[in-house]
Amino acid sequence: MGNRVMVSLLVLVLVLSYGVMAMAMRFNHEDEEWGRDQREEEWEGHRGHRHLFLLQQSRLLVKTEAGQMRVVRSVGQRMVDRHINVAYLTLEPNSLFIPQYLDSSLILFVQRGQANVGLVHRQELGERQLKAGDVYRIPAGSTFYLQNVRENRRLQIILSIDTSDSLRMGTLENFFIGGGTYPKSVLSGFDSEILTNAFNVSSSEIRQVLTRHQEGPIIYLNNSQSSSNLWTKFVSMKEQDRLQELKKMVDFPEEPEQTLTWSWRKLLNSVFGTLENEERKQHHHEHSQKSYNLYDRKPDFKNNHGWTLSVDESDYSPLKDSGIGVYLVSLNAGSMLAPHVNPRATEYGVVLRGSGSLQIVFPNGTLAMKAKLKPGRVFWVPRYFPFVQVASNNEQLEIFGFTTSAQPNRPQFLAGSSSVLQALRGQELAAAFGVSEGRLNHFVNAQREAVILPYNAERNQKADGMADR
Ligand SMILES: *[C@@H]1O[C@H](CO)[C@@H](O)[C@H](O)[C@H]1NC(C)=O
Ligand SMILES: *[C@@H]1O[C@H](CO)[C@@H](O)[C@H](O)[C@H]1NC(C)=O
Ligand SMILES: *[C@@H]1O[C@H](CO)[C@@H](O)[C@H](O)[C@H]1NC(C)=O
Repeated sequence: MGNRVMVSLLVLVLVLSYGVMAMAMRFNHEDEEWGRDQREEEWEGHRGHRHLFLLQQSRLLVKTEAGQMRVVRSVGQRMVDRHINVAYLTLEPNSLFIPQYLDSSLILFVQRGQANVGLVHRQELGERQLKAGDVYRIPAGSTFYLQNVRENRRLQIILSIDTSDSLRMGTLENFFIGGGTYPKSVLSGFDSEILTNAFNVSSSEIRQVLTRHQEGPIIYLNNSQSSSNLWTKFVSMKEQDRLQELKKMVDFPEEPEQTLTWSWRKLLNSVFGTLENEERKQHHHEHSQKSYNLYDRKPDFKNNHGWTLSVDESDYSPLKDSGIGVYLVSLNAGSMLAPHVNPRATEYGVVLRGSGSLQIVFPNGTLAMKAKLKPGRVFWVPRYFPFVQVASNNEQLEIFGFTTSAQPNRPQFLAGSSSVLQALRGQELAAAFGVSEGRLNHFVNAQREAVILPYNAERNQKADGMADR
């Protein structure tokens, strides 16, 4: 009995001492952090080879008043061919596991209670109700939230965490979209100058939105701003809207849809495309073992501030054999490629022309690197890490690069009118930032452009100067 209390205390202390936001597992201390499962005490007398296949180590990844997540794994996991952790997630009545994405894919199994899961797919939010017995997949890199909307029933979920694609083999890393001081939103990692430009709001508004939340990754939805009643009303009201969405989306099939879109784009291209485009297509089909010209290709995205294009296996089939994609980005002077994430690939970039800067953010929402970009400079950005490129205000910045996947890369934007925040906009995201829905809407809607945004290096000083006075 006393031992159990000690073990729980120990686990708690460990979790706290690794930085309260350390829901993610840390690099060097991994093994020390794993505590023995409490239940293991009962097996104490039988330790030995016979227990090689029991998952006897467990760790509390998150614990707040509103819920917890505990992961178990076996000691001898070196023998496995794939790295899967098993976890228990408990959400108390009326609670929310705030919007985030992971470097691992999850399979959920609802053991008890009822879950609402929101998943952003192609810039649209789909919400689904899961009941006991339901199984559901959340792909690595996809933004999601989980909610227990029942007033009086605890929600229990068993999940597999497939860490085969994770940043570090065998561990899980969370990237919170919402957040504040605890946990931090990944957005906090960027400079204030980047954020004011990306969101087109003042630095004081940035501060207000990004520093308020402090209740941890799992929160109650019935305290602070939203009264329980309002919340319930909101849920029932919003569901009507969401049903419409669900009809369109059903189950987010991943690959088939992609081919559909890509062939759709091709169809459009071949119907409306220029003559060069036609030639390119033919060239591509008949001699795909030869070469592919990036400059003959029309951009995938273009606005007043620049353009981007990417080439994957559906454009040039030899890429499939090496599992590599290729891209070109051109940013006009005084513009930025909005903060974004590659959910499927690591990216290697080479600056062809111009100058500018690059910022990359760690999963825990701190700045990982800030560097100047100039011709010949080569950089890499790990899969899942948020980053941003900015062109200096006197010349165009052109970057060529590779991605470690031949499939369409589909970056997730964290700002701009096509961002995941736009898709999530609603009570869940507001709660995750600890602000009212009105404030959140202003914050998320102020930037009207998408993907490539105007960037004014002076903006911050001016705005701050005014705010300070
Ligand atoms: C919120 O709801 C939970 C469960 O229904 C309850 O335990 C908690 O006290 C409530 N919190 C507030 C502030 O009403
Ligand atoms: C965030 O993560 C990075 C990389 O793991 C680490 O070096 C840094 O100390 C962390 N910062 C905080 C505040 O935990
Ligand atoms: C930024 O916000 C202002 C209004 O505050 C608006 O007039 C302007 O069009 C916005 N710019 C962009 C790029 O969205």
